[in-house]
Amino acid sequence: SSALTLVRGQILHFLSDPIQDDPSSYEYFADGALWIEQGKILKVGNWETITSTITPEKLSRATLYDYSGKLIMPGLVDTHCHYPQAKVIGSYGRQLLDWLNDYTFPTEAAFADPDVALRGAEYFVKRLLAHGTTTASVFATVHPTSVDAFMQTAEKYGLRMLCGKVMMDRHCPDNLRDTAQQSGIESQDLIDRWHGKGRLRYSITPRFAPTSTPEQLHIAGELYHSRPDLHVQSHLAENWDEIHWVRSLFPELFDYLNVYEYYGLTGERTIYGHCIHLSPREIQSMSEQGTAAAFCPTSNLFLGSGFFDYSKVAEANVRIGLATDVGGGTSFSLIRTLGEAYKVSQVHKQPLSALRGWYLATLGGAKALYLDSFIGNFTSGKEADFIVIDTSTIEELDYRLQGVESLSERLFALMIMGDERNIYATHIQGNKISFDA
Ligand code: GUN
Ligand code: FE
Repeated sequence: SSALTLVRGQILHFLSDPIQDDPSSYEYFADGALWIEQGKILKVGNWETITSTITPEKLSRATLYDYSGKLIMPGLVDTHCHYPQAKVIGSYGRQLLDWLNDYTFPTEAAFADPDVALRGAEYFVKRLLAHGTTTASVFATVHPTSVDAFMQTAEKYGLRMLCGKVMMDRHCPDNLRDTAQQSGIESQDLIDRWHGKGRLRYSITPRFAPTSTPEQLHIAGELYHSRPDLHVQSHLAENWDEIHWVRSLFPELFDYLNVYEYYGLTGERTIYGHCIHLSPREIQSMSEQGTAAAFCPTSNLFLGSGFFDYSKVAEANVRIGLATDVGGGTSFSLIRTLGEAYKVSQVHKQPLSALRGWYLATLGGAKALYLDSFIGNFTSGKEADFIVIDTSTIEELDYRLQGVESLSERLFALMIMGDERNIYATHIQGNKISFDA
C-alpha cells in the first residue's frame, strides 16, 4: 500500500440531497481523478485538471488505479443490519414477532461461542465488501464477545464501522437474556475497549422497546449521555403487532417513539430501523431532534411489515439512510435494496429518482449515521473508501445501456437492474482490498 494514490475513472459523488435532481447537489467527471494521500481524499476533479496540479515527482511515486470506463462512487453505507443473522435470510412464512422467536433468536444463541462469532464476523464483513458496502451500523448479539469478534474483524480490514451489544432483558429466551445491570456494565466495558479505536465507534443497542425493561432503557439512555460521541441504534414502528405490544407495555407513554424519548435515546447519532408506521407527531419529533430512520425495503417487504413512505418522511427533514436489515432483509446488496426502494416509492406515487437513490446509499447514509465528517463523498479530507462499478458484467444491463448517454438514465437502470455482480473493486482508505475465500 502506498501513501500516494491516483485513481482514474467516471467519478460521481454528492454534496447534498438532490431534491428535484438539483445539479449543484452532485459532481460528475466523465474522465475524473481522485488524488489520495495517507488514505484521505485531497482532490477530486477532471483527470487533466487534477494531474496538472501535482508535481511529476509526486505523480511518479503514486500508485495508479486506471478504472477508465468504469464508475467510481463513495463506498455504500448500510445504516442497519445484523451480522449474526446471515443464516436467517430467507426464513419462511413468519412476520416480525414470530420470525424473531422461531428463527432469529435460536440463530443468535449460537454466537455465545466466540469461534462462531469470529467466523460469522469474518464472513459478514467480506460479504459487505463484496457488495460494495464499506460502512455499516451493525447489531451484534447479547453476547459481549460477539462485539469483540466484529470489531476485531472490522479493525483488521481498516473499516469505519458502528457496532454494539444487543441489550435485551425480557421477552426473549433465557440463553439470550441479560439483566439491566449486566448490560450496562458489559456495554461500558465494550465502549472502553472499542469506541474510538481507529475508525470504530460504539453504538448502544437496546434491541427494541418490547425486549427491554424500563430499567434497561434507563441505563441505555444514561450510557448514551455519558460521552459526547456515542451512537444509539434500535428498531421503531416496524409491525402493527409490535406497535400494539409497545403500547400495552408502556401505557403511560403516548406513542412508540416517546418510549425512546422518555429514556433519552433520541437525537443526534441515534438511528432507528424501519419507522414504517409513524404518527405525524413521531415524524415531527424525529425531525426536530435529529433522530434518523433506516429505510429497509427488502426486509419490510419480506416480513410483510409495510411500505416506508420515503418522500413523506424526507419532506419532514428527517435524516434517512438506506439499509439491508440482513437477515430480515433478503440481500447484502444496497444496489438491489435501491431497486426495492424505488418499487416501494411507486406505491406512494412519489418515484425515487436515481440521483436521490444513490445519494441515499452514500452521503445520505453517512449523514443519517452522523459520520459525514469522515465518509460519504469525495470532498477534501474525507476517508478514501470507494467502489468501482462495472455495468458490463450484467449482460441485460449492458444491453439496456447501449447508446444511453443520460447520466440519470444510466444510474436509474443500474439501480433497477444492477447488483453485486457490478462491484468490480472495493477500496478502503485508498487501497484496493481483497476479500476472497
Ligand atoms: N425488531 C427487533 N429485533 C429485530 C430484528 O432482529 N430484526 C428486525 N427486522 N426487527 C427487529
Ligand atoms: Fe433490524
